Amino acid sequence: MPDFDLAIRGGTLVTAADTVQADLGIRDGRIAAIAERITDTARTLDASGLLVLPGGIDSHVHIAQAAGPGIVMADDFASATRAAAAGGNTCVMPFALQPRGASLREATHAYRALAEGQCHIDVAIHLIVSDPTPAVLGQELPALIAEGYTSFKVFMTYDDLVLNDRQILDVFDVARREGARVMVHAEGYDTIRYMTERLERAGQTTPYGHALSRPELVEREAAHRAISHAELVDLPIVIVHVSGEQAMEQIAWARARGLKIHAETCPQYLTLTAEDLKGRGSGDPMAGAKYVCSPPPRDTASQAAIWRGLQGGVFEVVSSDHCPFRYDDARGKLNPRAKESFRYVPNGIPGIETRLPILFSEGVSTGRISLNRFVELTATNHAKLYGLYPRKGSIGVGFDADLTLWDPNRRETITQANLHHGADYTPWEGFAVTGWPVMTLARGEIVAEDGRVVGALGHGRVLDRIAQAAPHP
Ligand code: URP
Ligand code: ZN
Ligand code: ZN
Ligand code: ZN
Repeated sequence: MPDFDLAIRGGTLVTAADTVQADLGIRDGRIAAIAERITDTARTLDASGLLVLPGGIDSHVHIAQAAGPGIVMADDFASATRAAAAGGNTCVMPFALQPRGASLREATHAYRALAEGQCHIDVAIHLIVSDPTPAVLGQELPALIAEGYTSFKVFMTYDDLVLNDRQILDVFDVARREGARVMVHAEGYDTIRYMTERLERAGQTTPYGHALSRPELVEREAAHRAISHAELVDLPIVIVHVSGEQAMEQIAWARARGLKIHAETCPQYLTLTAEDLKGRGSGDPMAGAKYVCSPPPRDTASQAAIWRGLQGGVFEVVSSDHCPFRYDDARGKLNPRAKESFRYVPNGIPGIETRLPILFSEGVSTGRISLNRFVELTATNHAKLYGLYPRKGSIGVGFDADLTLWDPNRRETITQANLHHGADYTPWEGFAVTGWPVMTLARGEIVAEDGRVVGALGHGRVLDRIAQAAPHP
């Protein structure tokens, strides 16, 4: 019997810390050896000329999540994990959403059942707490955390999800006691409502109004409030999808006070602007619906600020915030009410397959960030923040053999025709990139190769995690 099931030979291994020329030996789905030369193997993959990266971990994606009435998300677990694998990812983290008035426990178990057997790559499930009743705070949430659902998101906006300040404090308190990680969607409900109604009265109802209704102030104000609540409860939090300098300033301010505030941004805030919500030269203002997400993309000065934050350490993770709706579809972006007002355009854009190529091309190929920083931002820090480390997120003996073979020189043009998601468009149509994932291995098996998804549905598992217990009286 050979020592290894598979050897990856001749590649350049990249971790958050190092870049080394070495072979990898894989056994039973895990990395079993790193050596100058590995020969005693059943199979060999030639990675010469390629980078061998830890598979991408996307810790913020929305899959098969309940949207508004009559609105349907465009991906189920099969299509989302297929697209993720093709884009060089080996683990994604979607959200089990508690509908108001319903049990969080039941919603979570039903959501997990949708995922079981339907994934190409591993998934780990976060929770969305929309109704923190005494039963949820006292029993359901602690029990779910103990079961391995150790992270959840709270929203400061959206009619059906928003929590008030007291509810946020109560949820933070449970997280503090049980050792869970909380992600915060920081945009202020009341400021958005005020702006939305003002814009509608003025007749500004097209999708571009979405950007106007959520200026940076809305995000800055909510970030400040979330940070203050976190300080009061003594809980580290993650502020997700940060779009510009004003929220960044709040995060830097909090850290200067010694608070543990983590931060995430997304490719849309590096590459899109509010102008895209005007329809991008199509002549059709409704085409701007393709770019409606929250927070909205800002301007080129904000993009530059986000780059500084990626270089300087404000951001620890870059996620996609994949939240796919079909555009030309009555249950998607162009639903029957979308023309009435931007408030009826479902929020979110697809990006699970394009996150890594866009960040690599715009970040590494241009010299803005190092290869090691790229790995840290796209894999390692996701695993560390959300309890998957040291099982996932790096290349080392004992880690899952979750790997992406990456061609740093390959030029591609992003186009809907070549993507694998369930949406009918990509916001990055025609976007040229340098650097491309040519093969994805999940726990030692090839799941995607050259744009084709070859792994079996059901190879991906639903992962349980262990709370970082931080008992608090
Ligand atoms: O517009 C967005 N980002 N939709 C997805 C849900 C969320 O807030 O992350
Ligand atoms: Zn959000
Ligand atoms: Zn999101
Ligand atoms: Zn398998």
